[in-house]
Amino acid sequence: NVRMFQNPVVQDNLRRLQGFGAIVVMPGCGDLACGETGPGRLAELPEIIEAIKSALTVKSLAGKKVLVSAGPTREMIDPVRFISNRSTGKMGFAMAAEAHRRGARVFLVTGPVTTPRPMGVTVVEVTTAVEMRQAVLDLAQDADIVVKAAAVSDYAPAEQYAQKVKKGLVEQNLRLIKNPDILAELGRHKGRRLLIGFAAETEDLLAHAREKMINKNLDLIVANDVSRPGAGFAVDTNIVKLLYPNGRIDDIPLKSKEDVARDIWDRIVELPAQRGPVQ
Ligand code: CTP
Repeated sequence: NVRMFQNPVVQDNLRRLQGFGAIVVMPGCGDLACGETGPGRLAELPEIIEAIKSALTVKSLAGKKVLVSAGPTREMIDPVRFISNRSTGKMGFAMAAEAHRRGARVFLVTGPVTTPRPMGVTVVEVTTAVEMRQAVLDLAQDADIVVKAAAVSDYAPAEQYAQKVKKGLVEQNLRLIKNPDILAELGRHKGRRLLIGFAAETEDLLAHAREKMINKNLDLIVANDVSRPGAGFAVDTNIVKLLYPNGRIDDIPLKSKEDVARDIWDRIVELPAQRGPVQ
């Protein structure tokens, strides 16, 4: 009941408990069984579960600012059609959620997805690669760690039609222009940040991933064979390989994206801290 909850004795006791180190999951706000309205509802179960997971997680990212990008970008052809890909943002969202549990201040730049937002994370929604670039570059300024899990569309239509294009009114070839490579740009101005990339491949996984890690000046790349069952887009599990610049390769077998995210963060927090001013 709202008045019981707001009673100074209850509030004082809650503060005492917090003072002893107890974690308090605050009640939800709304209509109560007794007919009154206000804070007093059982907190939503996902919120309680998240609080428990967070309580059980060592704060290995305390004091760090983490930026994660996730999801696809969408490049509009006309008001109803676009170029995009099958990314649902699940792996990036899992990375953001785990970073928050580890005590980081987390910013998540995401393309259009329906995946539920991770709790406690600041979400910035974008649509196109150009918008994602702007949001990521702004937030990366003072970030300690940048994780680029987004599936950025490499091309956008050269022209965007203001009205829905009618059959037969355009040439059959769609002219495309290249989008900016956001991660490569971050790699050129790396400063003291740690840069983690993802590589979605359907063949020659290790060779392609290694090339991307070197070309984009990364500290670690998560290689993802998206053609394997149980890995890649739109599923809740993943199978990845982690490649390091020194040639080390770690295999992470099939597990939930949440568990894969935990394994990846276990590696990231062990990476040698980069020093020096951000360039
Ligand atoms: N990436 C990016 N900007 C782009 C393309 C990719 O920031 N325009 C980032 C992705 O977020 C990912 C990494 O670069 O972390 C690799 O993305 P991927 O799509 O696998 O590779 P590409 O560099 O686009 O190369 P290709 O499409 O030829 O495989």
